[in-house]
Amino acid sequence: MILNQEPVILDDLAPHSADAIMKGEDRLEAIASPNLNGDISIPGDKSMSHRALISGGLAEGKTIIFGLLESEDVLHTAAAVRAFGPAVERVGEGHWTVIGTRWHSPATDVDCGNSGTGARLLIGAAAGFPLEARFVGDTSLSRRPMGRILEPLRRMGAVANGDFLPVTVRGGQLRRIRHVNASASAQVKSALLLAGLHSDGGVEIIEPAASRDHSETMLRAFGCDVKAADGAISLDGGCRLTATSIHIPGDPSSAAFPLVAALISPGSNVRARSVMINPLRAGLFDTLRAMGARLDVAPRGRRGGEAVADITAAYGALQGVEVPAERAPSMIDEYPILAVAAAFASGRTILHGLGELRVKECDRLAAIVQGLRACGVDATEEGDTLIIVGADGPPPGGGSVETHGDHRIAMSFLVLGLASRSPVTVDSATSIATSFPGFAQLMRTIGANIA
Ligand code: S3P
Repeated sequence: MILNQEPVILDDLAPHSADAIMKGEDRLEAIASPNLNGDISIPGDKSMSHRALISGGLAEGKTIIFGLLESEDVLHTAAAVRAFGPAVERVGEGHWTVIGTRWHSPATDVDCGNSGTGARLLIGAAAGFPLEARFVGDTSLSRRPMGRILEPLRRMGAVANGDFLPVTVRGGQLRRIRHVNASASAQVKSALLLAGLHSDGGVEIIEPAASRDHSETMLRAFGCDVKAADGAISLDGGCRLTATSIHIPGDPSSAAFPLVAALISPGSNVRARSVMINPLRAGLFDTLRAMGARLDVAPRGRRGGEAVADITAAYGALQGVEVPAERAPSMIDEYPILAVAAAFASGRTILHGLGELRVKECDRLAAIVQGLRACGVDATEEGDTLIIVGADGPPPGGGSVETHGDHRIAMSFLVLGLASRSPVTVDSATSIATSFPGFAQLMRTIGANIA
């Protein structure tokens, strides 16, 4: 019984080194696997897991988290929050407690690993305190733009050098700003909301389009009055957070992989249980339905302040589709797996407004095109638009796909290999542990031949 387990100290769960992971699965191959079948639980939502740990670390009292995603990215955030002073403990699988406090300067560098969300939200939260911290990350994270949060944080009064990690941040004594977000980035919005908690006068962020609103929902659950109206999100300074309990639902971005695998593998029927269906995250499911996908969404109430559903996917024919740029924020992490579905569809799929994909864990737009071509699929990028000519059934496959260390590229092309004519190999599966530890094992339980 999880609740009665002895607390496990976080050191035992520190993110694995790349070397340790390399001893396990690295190169993986996916072979045609018809008749995928089963009823599966999806690991906790990654966005909410980061936010639950950080909000708990800022709150008075003991926050209890159930269903925390114990992936590399989130474990880095747990270790980072603890380095700033809060007590962070693992009680059992997915069951964590956080006792918040005023954050102090950490004794060592804050290692955010591969996580853009972790880095940006932690920098925002830390900037609200009179402390100094040096944030570092892996090679991929060190190439990702941090100027988008550092520029507004500097206007609030924080001191930070450079626009890429490593970055040293000196916080405290922040003033109110009104920030117009250039893109619909939830990470930028969230970093500024977290900084605004301790600023003089709060913060206001204007979004060009609505981005995922988990920070708003979670901060409200911790007692902060976050206002959202007409594209403006704001909170007043001096907001005090009070500890709460949070149940984190399944991550729709992770559920996408087994569900799309079922859509493209003949004879398949897979149900993913308790998946979060926040409309600001549901663009993939809307798009798949427009492609003719057999998806059934059975609402199952709410968890952690979010609507959840059991989602069932069954094999069937798919048609190409044109997806407008306006839908990108609600499916920004799902383009790699959507591109795989499009490779099996009849006709062309045209995806607009993918500029942000160039600054994800890798240049995802280029990696998708390269991977699809390696698998015999006709794919082209034209500026920020991706065009895929579907094979109207299984594409050739047979490729060896370069993942560029990107978890979603790795999982997407393994899914492609489960239904293509020849097996598909990914050069490294190490990155999958950043968001979906146990992905290959879970896929095997529904009949996927991944080895
Ligand atoms: C996330 C926001 C998105 C997304 C990322 C998680 C979040 O990034 O791609 O995986 O949890 O806020 P952007 O805010 O940069 O669009």
